[in-house]
Amino acid sequence: MKAFRSFRLDPVNQCLWRGEQRVALTPKAFDVLRYLVEHPGRLVTQDEILEALWPETYVNPELIKKYILGIRKVLGDQQDKPVYIETLPKRGYQFIAPVTDHIAEVPQDPSSDYTSKMVGRAGPLGELQAAFKKALGGQRQVIFVAGEPGIGKTTLVDSFHRHVSRQGNVRTARGQCVEGFGGKEPYYPMLDALGHLTRSPNGGAIVQALAKRAPTWLIQFPSLVKPEQREALQREILGATRERMVREICEALESVSSEAPILLVFEDLHWVDPSTLDLISALARRREQAKFMVVCTYRPVDVILSNSKLKGLKQDLEVHNLCSEIALERLPEPAVAEYLATEFPNASLPPGLANLIYRHSDGNPLFMVAIVQDIIKKGLIANHKGEWTLTKPLEPMDPGVPQSLQQMLEVQFERLTAPEQRALEAGSVVGEHFSAWVVASVLEEEPDRIEDLCDGLAARQQVINAIGTQELPHALAAAHYDFRHSLYRQAIYRRIAPGKRARLHRAVAERLKTVGGPRQRQLASEIAFHFESGGEYEQAIRFLILAAENAAARFAYRDYIQVLQHALGLIHKIEAHLQAELEVQILEFIGDAHYALGAMAESAAAYESAASRAGQAGFKTAQVNALGCLVRPFGLIDPDRGIAAIGRAVEVTQSMQDPLLLARTQMLAASCRLLYDCWREQDAVLCASAHQQLKELGDTDIPPFHNMMYAYVQTFQGNYVEAFEIFERGIPKLNQTTSLMEHFFGLSGKTVTLLRVGRLGEVLQIVRHAKEMAEKNGNDPWLFNFREAWVRMLALDFEGSARVCDSILQMKTLYQVGQPQTIGRIARGYAAIAAGFTELDRGHYNRAIEFFNGVRHPSITPKFFLHWAWRMTAQLGMSEAWLQLKDMGKASVEADAFLHSALETADPHLQALAWEVQARIALSNEDWTRSKDCIHKALEIVRVFEVPIAAWQVHATAWRLYRCKQEHGAAESHRQAAEEYIFKIANSFAHGEPLREMFLSAGPVARILNPSGDIGHAADD
Ligand SMILES: Nc1ncnc2c1ncn2[C@@H]1O[C@H](COP(=O)(O)OP(=O)(O)OP(=O)(O)O)[C@@H](O)[C@H]1O
Ligand SMILES: [Mg+2]
Repeated sequence: MKAFRSFRLDPVNQCLWRGEQRVALTPKAFDVLRYLVEHPGRLVTQDEILEALWPETYVNPELIKKYILGIRKVLGDQQDKPVYIETLPKRGYQFIAPVTDHIAEVPQDPSSDYTSKMVGRAGPLGELQAAFKKALGGQRQVIFVAGEPGIGKTTLVDSFHRHVSRQGNVRTARGQCVEGFGGKEPYYPMLDALGHLTRSPNGGAIVQALAKRAPTWLIQFPSLVKPEQREALQREILGATRERMVREICEALESVSSEAPILLVFEDLHWVDPSTLDLISALARRREQAKFMVVCTYRPVDVILSNSKLKGLKQDLEVHNLCSEIALERLPEPAVAEYLATEFPNASLPPGLANLIYRHSDGNPLFMVAIVQDIIKKGLIANHKGEWTLTKPLEPMDPGVPQSLQQMLEVQFERLTAPEQRALEAGSVVGEHFSAWVVASVLEEEPDRIEDLCDGLAARQQVINAIGTQELPHALAAAHYDFRHSLYRQAIYRRIAPGKRARLHRAVAERLKTVGGPRQRQLASEIAFHFESGGEYEQAIRFLILAAENAAARFAYRDYIQVLQHALGLIHKIEAHLQAELEVQILEFIGDAHYALGAMAESAAAYESAASRAGQAGFKTAQVNALGCLVRPFGLIDPDRGIAAIGRAVEVTQSMQDPLLLARTQMLAASCRLLYDCWREQDAVLCASAHQQLKELGDTDIPPFHNMMYAYVQTFQGNYVEAFEIFERGIPKLNQTTSLMEHFFGLSGKTVTLLRVGRLGEVLQIVRHAKEMAEKNGNDPWLFNFREAWVRMLALDFEGSARVCDSILQMKTLYQVGQPQTIGRIARGYAAIAAGFTELDRGHYNRAIEFFNGVRHPSITPKFFLHWAWRMTAQLGMSEAWLQLKDMGKASVEADAFLHSALETADPHLQALAWEVQARIALSNEDWTRSKDCIHKALEIVRVFEVPIAAWQVHATAWRLYRCKQEHGAAESHRQAAEEYIFKIANSFAHGEPLREMFLSAGPVARILNPSGDIGHAADD
């Protein structure tokens, strides 16, 4: 402790003493004085003070002048004749009084530092310490501390916290759950605790651990991410899930705890959000050794009232011996006596006093302390020459003590001045924490005045504590405060008349609303809460929608949906003409969230409600939009309903005068029919003309989904460059709830285009990367498994392809949440084709035919995305099989059907293959003319379009044909062309990629590459 003249600076209690008297000083003024006293006898500039005390915050330098003024006042220093602080004009300040180190104990102010005087909790404290010992041994600990309000949970945990902190090399952090809106903020207390940890002296290690092991958490702290890292981080966490987020933080904490043990305290879990419960559950259940301990406090009554899942979680953990609970009891009379003894050392107080306080407070510590404070304030106990004595006899004192804690707190409140009361009332409406800035604006007062008032209360340790200066949006820092106890806040809040309360809530909401930029979203649930409490439901709904986005950014889609459901529940309270618009919007968001979770049926149900609500209200644009959204989930579970929905959307747009919307909707509708139903020329024309129209109308903002569907259509017409470009552009959109699926859709479209143009190696790379990501996210990479199966099939690794498909079919959870049948269907399609070719390879043609038949028949394999292309591929397989069986009749039937269907599409790949198989059948029938005709048709196509997969096969057949005709020159040039295409495909693989070697050594390919080994097979292989 530093001493100067008659003063002593007490850093522990953050106060100044003159002799035995505590001198009131605001916390910030104290900090400034402390800095000067710790750097005496030299110039200290304003910048130095700002940098040392508020490094992260902009503080108006003028404020320092104000603090110095306040300090001078309490020290009794004069600026013109200073004995303590000298002002060096335009430079700064110098502390000029001699400073010494003072060792003697400071007498305790009876009203200070209650928590250091904990009584009657030796048992529970011992339990916590024993648990911590186990944690130090690597046995993770989760402890719940339960008890009624004011029973001393926080006091116990604080005391334990101090005990642990004294051991050094232990990281400790606290996370506070908040009442009102906190339950709508996923991971609120964990983010709070992490914020403390990252700002602590060894915070760098935490940031590193987050960067390495928990990117989904790092991104929640924008100030910790450098702008140039942001995009890479966004990509890294794309598609993350709740499971991943929980797992990552567990791993990060485990890794950090291997260097230094961690104590995490979660306070007031009765207000917790569901995501934090998941996290606590995971922390408790993981089996890895970890030196950490989680202590959670909660009030059982509030858990029951709020219907929180905490109870279930705790019971479950208890059954499995994964947690323990300390239930705090009321203090017994001897503990009250002990409290008095520590509070009033050297006192000669009558023994009846402890009994009286015990009877009144019923052993509730908060009440007990409040009574003692009350007695001191009333002067019933006084310090006379260092000895505490009763100033009145015990008996008459009794009736003066309020009967309940609530009354007690009210009495204390009533003793404050009117402006203090007003400030505290406003503060109690703001919440457990409040800033002088908000209170000032709600009361239409000067912030400085409120700050002084609150600082005064805090310095006298009445009702609130000062918790420091925090940055505010308008580049000004404001002092923040919290209530000494939540019951103080509640007591004050309950006194306010309902009408006034609502008005204050509205004023708080309006004030917070003026905060712009990204901060507004951070405050959204708080603002929504105040609007709701103030009866401004429309605004409440709008901010709930914004708050939901926070949940989405934390991959907490269930919470996202819950927040929106809450908003839906408020809809009937707003003006009728606004209801539909907001309801539709919310329902659509709910649909998006279900879609992102993979719950397609729920997603479709939400979009359907949105569409019908919009329809009823006559909001045609919104209706069209919702109907358009329906295509996405229905595309996976029931394509026909998707097509019907978008058809309905077209009808609606036709009754509107909105050419742009009409063109967009028509384009989407035509694309859907083409991709999900079958290829029709008129739809292809419609799609193209609608796209052209959008161009002419200058539509630069075509929705990504519409665009990507259009790009698919381009792929299946051989416009690969255009398609590729659209898909690429669609991929980097990362910032919305639905963007994940768009990204996914874009990526999957890109792979299909790459497959058509034979860039198999690139597809394989995308697939591998996506599978790695899926593993990190705990997702099932079903789509990418299909792509791999497809790549393998085109690279003639049919066994491998079938293996991949088998593994897909064996997956228990095909889709993250339900809808396995959807994917199963697609898988069966793929698997059957791959298996069919495998069987072909093995010569099991009849089995192959069975498989292909299954794909072809809608009754066995219902419609799915691009099902027609697969059905044609199956037809190709069938005719191949009959050809091998030398049943030319049946081979022809299938090949003709294939050609017929292929010619109805615009897909050059399928058409080239359809002509090619015709050429082979004709060749087998020794019908040279027809064979030549057919192969020329195929050659024309592969000349125009970049379809190397079809091209090498076409040239291979041409080679055979010309060899049969003994036209060796022409034959050789086709062989060379085939070889060129083959290498083009093979070279798209990375060097050393096994699939490349498999492709090059597969029978049909090897025959082309080593023609000399093939002599004699020209006509019959
Ligand atoms: N064991 C104790 N000995 C002395 N004083 C105590 C003790 N426990 C609590 N107190 C006093 O009671 C007050 C209320 O206690 P505390 O805040 O710890 O209660 P809590 O159980 O955390 O309440 P809540 O459920 O409202 O959070 C404390 O500020 C402290 O002054
Ligand atoms: Mg508490």
